[in-house]
Amino acid sequence: MSARDVHFPDAFSWGTSTSAYQIEGGNTNTDWWRFERAEGTTAVEVCGDACDSWHRYEEDLDILASLGLNAFRLSVEWARVEPEQGNFSIEALEHYRAVLTACRERDIVPVVTLHHFTLPLWAADQGGFEHPEIAQWMAAYATQVGAALGDLIGIACTINEPNIVAIMGYLLGNFPPQVTSWERFVAVNETMRKCHVAVRDALREGPGNFPIGLPLSMQEYEAVPGFEDRLNSFREEMEDKYLLSLGGDDYVGVQCYTKVILGPDGVVNEPGAELTDMGYLFWPQSVEYTIRRAAELTNAPIIMTENGIGTADDAQRVRYLTEALKGVRTLLDDGVDLRGYFQWSLLDNFEWSLGYRPKFGIVAVDRTTFARTLKPSATWFADATRTFFTTA
Ligand code: BGC
Repeated sequence: MSARDVHFPDAFSWGTSTSAYQIEGGNTNTDWWRFERAEGTTAVEVCGDACDSWHRYEEDLDILASLGLNAFRLSVEWARVEPEQGNFSIEALEHYRAVLTACRERDIVPVVTLHHFTLPLWAADQGGFEHPEIAQWMAAYATQVGAALGDLIGIACTINEPNIVAIMGYLLGNFPPQVTSWERFVAVNETMRKCHVAVRDALREGPGNFPIGLPLSMQEYEAVPGFEDRLNSFREEMEDKYLLSLGGDDYVGVQCYTKVILGPDGVVNEPGAELTDMGYLFWPQSVEYTIRRAAELTNAPIIMTENGIGTADDAQRVRYLTEALKGVRTLLDDGVDLRGYFQWSLLDNFEWSLGYRPKFGIVAVDRTTFARTLKPSATWFADATRTFFTTA
């Protein structure tokens, strides 16, 4: 357990989630930037300037403040902070300090992720998550981030969805480094858990008393009859081994989008089932299911660090979020120790291999001018969160 006197934000956190690579633009010194241009890439387009949030973060935070949201999840780009191994960029750290200060000036709690999918080129070139010293590298980086930003951080997330980095990069071959091996997938998951502890402990050594946790990708899983055992061993690797190891954390981050029905040939959806633009089953009920499961397995406070829907149909987004928040209410009524809900995402951003097609934002971004336009779901979410605790 932590020796620190950990302080959670006083109020339930209502926010939106983002990540550096997906909104900042110009993160050239990363494995993803190179991957998008490599032969055999799965990326349909390049990230480029993203939403230009590196320059427009104040505008983003003004929007958030105008919606009355009290928290914002963003990530720090490792490749900017440590462009070469052991060389830390004061300029980059000062930039993030300015972003966090801008949050605080607006009474927005900054929720800071240290690693969200991307690696600096120097780390990737040496084997990334398969290098025996990756946990020490991450700890060194976390020490610098903690020292520079710890007094401003409201909540910290160590590594975003390490299980997705592992499955996409080392089992399915859809993300860098495009490996397809069950053994290497299992090994990377194991390494990820060590990296998480290394980052967590490095942050605990620095200033601040913010809660620290790991945001895990979770699904509501269902097996087609006869496939239950296979599903259980897959889920054990994707979720249970993580959840059962997180007992020393201050909270557990849960991220979910859908229900996955698995059979021998992969995901099975019933004909006519409602799908999102990601091809996911429309299943906001997964919010209640996954949070409950995480709470039961960890007995820790939970923060829903990501939930949302990729859709061009904003009315479908409102339908999804309406049901998701019903799940939040049921959980709180049942006494589940849930401390916050973060919608993914504030902006229509770079959705990894799928580029800019999937629209997760409650705010649209013009791809040429970067002008931000609120969608009806933004005002809906603002109203829903503002009145959440005063309406039945
Ligand atoms: C990731 C985000 C991604 C979102 C929607 C999560 O898996 O953390 O980076 O954009 O899901 O697919």
